[in-house]
Amino acid sequence: MTTTLITNLTEVFTADAAHTVIKDAAILLEDEKIAWIGSAAQAPAADTVIDAGYRAALPGWVDSHSHLVFAGDRSAEFVARMAGQDYAAGGIAVTTAATRATSDYDLTRLLMGRAAEALAGGTTYLETKTGYGLDVEEEARHARIASTVVDKVTFLGAHLVPAGMDAQEYTDLVCGEMLERVRPYVQFADVFCERGAFNEAQSRQVLAAAHQAGLGLRVHGNQLGPGPGTQLAVEFGAASVDHVNYLDDADVTALAGSWESWDPATRTGAAGTVATCLPACDLSTRQPLAPGRELIDAGVQIALASNCNPGTSYTSSMAFCVATAVLQMRLTIEEAITAATYGGALALGVQDLVGSLEVGKRADIQLLNAPAVAHLAYRPGMNLSGPVFRAGALVVG
Ligand code: NIG
Repeated sequence: MTTTLITNLTEVFTADAAHTVIKDAAILLEDEKIAWIGSAAQAPAADTVIDAGYRAALPGWVDSHSHLVFAGDRSAEFVARMAGQDYAAGGIAVTTAATRATSDYDLTRLLMGRAAEALAGGTTYLETKTGYGLDVEEEARHARIASTVVDKVTFLGAHLVPAGMDAQEYTDLVCGEMLERVRPYVQFADVFCERGAFNEAQSRQVLAAAHQAGLGLRVHGNQLGPGPGTQLAVEFGAASVDHVNYLDDADVTALAGSWESWDPATRTGAAGTVATCLPACDLSTRQPLAPGRELIDAGVQIALASNCNPGTSYTSSMAFCVATAVLQMRLTIEEAITAATYGGALALGVQDLVGSLEVGKRADIQLLNAPAVAHLAYRPGMNLSGPVFRAGALVVG
């Protein structure tokens, strides 16, 4: 066993249940795990000592929602949107055509480049989705490629009905042969439950088939308007419902109800459905921001994620999401960081492994080129990313 002490930390924000902040701190690692956190003055001896140079430390980001397996460019669509055009999911077909035409080698390199960008920004645990393949061979290919690069893969064959195909016929394909082919590579399945994508009955069919196949569930819900997505997610015990821009009182009540057996003070009990807010997407599509403040106040566990994709949110910057959540969604800095770390871990079911700096957890730690974590929102848009440790190893210098 090798021990490493990271010391001269101005503060450590642990993202534990009490939102503990330790000033003038140090963290002891034993191999890939956190063994001790406390005041630098009381730090134990270690084989190696790393001088953090008076930086703040926090958990690596857990980005629980991204769509990184894609090729092509949709900047013209973005420009048109900024000129007043509405987002309608039709652009997915543009990316699908470009992605289908890209070799395994090139697609893998594109994905690796995006994962490396995320890591450089402090993301140490990453989920990504399929959903730009939309036929059996392509969805299986994208799932296989994704599984070689990221931590968790979500099957999103139910992203859009391909042009020229009957919606029910395609839903049957997603729930049958396509699901069977992607199954070895994925841990979750998702459905875009929205007008213009999959209706309630089709979404139910996808969720039931994925559950039957033993996958965890998520739903893209209430992104472009009110609808059944959030309530379906709760009904099926989904790990998360993502977007949640247009919620009514019944949606919030259903989400809160799903957390009734969870004790936030001890973080024990039965986890409910995480409401994943995607503020970068909300800005890029000019949708109302997800009601993160109201959800927290209602007792719902929320996550913040990048939703990095070529259509609605072409950024993997979790720092940008945190700053927006603080400045625009009225979260405190502690709530926003916790949503982008522990919240993401809850949404992926890996909260016992990552998402907070606590003894026994994997040492996924990011250092900021700033003396306090508040700088993430206090200095929005600045690149404050410093060294990053993943499983105890320095992966960004
Ligand atoms: O999460 N909402 C659906 N899927 C993506 C956007 C996909 C695209 O436009 O390429 C999202 O925003």
